[in-house]
Amino acid sequence: MRLLRSRGRNLLKMDNQLDVFRRELVDVQGVPLFWSIAEEWSQVESFETRPDDLLIATYPKSGTTWVSEILDLIYNNGDAEKCKRDAIYNRVPFMELIIPGIANGIEDLKNMQSPRLVKTHLPVQLLPSSFWKNNCKMVYVARNAKDVAVSYYYFYQMAKMHPEPGTWEEFLDKFMNGKVAFGSWYDHVKGWWEKRKDYRILYLFYEDMKENPKREIQKLLKFLEKDLPEETVNKILHHSSFDVMKQNPSANYTTVPEFDMDQSVSPFMRKGISGDWKNHFTDAQYEKFEKDYEKKMRGSTLKFRSEI
Ligand code: A3P
Repeated sequence: MRLLRSRGRNLLKMDNQLDVFRRELVDVQGVPLFWSIAEEWSQVESFETRPDDLLIATYPKSGTTWVSEILDLIYNNGDAEKCKRDAIYNRVPFMELIIPGIANGIEDLKNMQSPRLVKTHLPVQLLPSSFWKNNCKMVYVARNAKDVAVSYYYFYQMAKMHPEPGTWEEFLDKFMNGKVAFGSWYDHVKGWWEKRKDYRILYLFYEDMKENPKREIQKLLKFLEKDLPEETVNKILHHSSFDVMKQNPSANYTTVPEFDMDQSVSPFMRKGISGDWKNHFTDAQYEKFEKDYEKKMRGSTLKFRSEI
């Protein structure tokens, strides 16, 4: 299995760790991004799509890896062994992720054969224009804000590209103010929701996937105009379940070096449930959050379930 880009890895481990990791986010058109994405923004902006690219767009921690695994399984007709050919971040490159010496999604995608599955966390207004020009199909997955905030807090702790998260209280405050990587959750989910009216975007919800994953896989198949036998769909269902993915090194990010993602702090495949926010929000935090949520989501037809 090909791991992360090997260029300069050892060097990075010894010398650059502090330089690359835990740095402050940098605004790109008002959206906080990793410093290295901001620095290389022109590469991202000019990314060239192909008409048969399928984009997987999400706000972080909304089920990106899950839907990526499902789509790769669909593309490979349920052949789980084929999907173990490489780690998920190489099978579905993270387009805008550029970390010197570690990752360059743009380069990886250039070198990839079609049809490509492309991952992005960009808010809709920052998506490279080539996606719209080529009218690429897109799958968006949204997850309720409170569970995203909790999942993101754990992810900030283990994935060192993020600034230090601070306490849960402090992190929640940053989340509500959009001062986290990839910006405001509220703007992200609403922006993509509006865009689906004009482009080929399938908008899915994590909670629906938890409730009835088979139904959501069928939606994906219909969107892709693909027909698969029931037996294959059942295989996809099995191999994309949380328990199976958690044990699969091609899906669970354990192949990422510890200095980049420390799974002893929090595993990437953490809980995989809806409603974990109840174990983290105090009553006061809940009340403040709901009041603020009401304001930020007012007027939108977008509705979430915070538990199933
Ligand atoms: P938790 O931290 O709540 O467990 P992303 O891939 O967008 O980074 O999202 C990661 C979140 O999706 C994590 O949530 C992770 O556990 C969950 N997840 C990953 N695979 C899953 C699966 N097959 N079923 C349910 N949840 C899954």
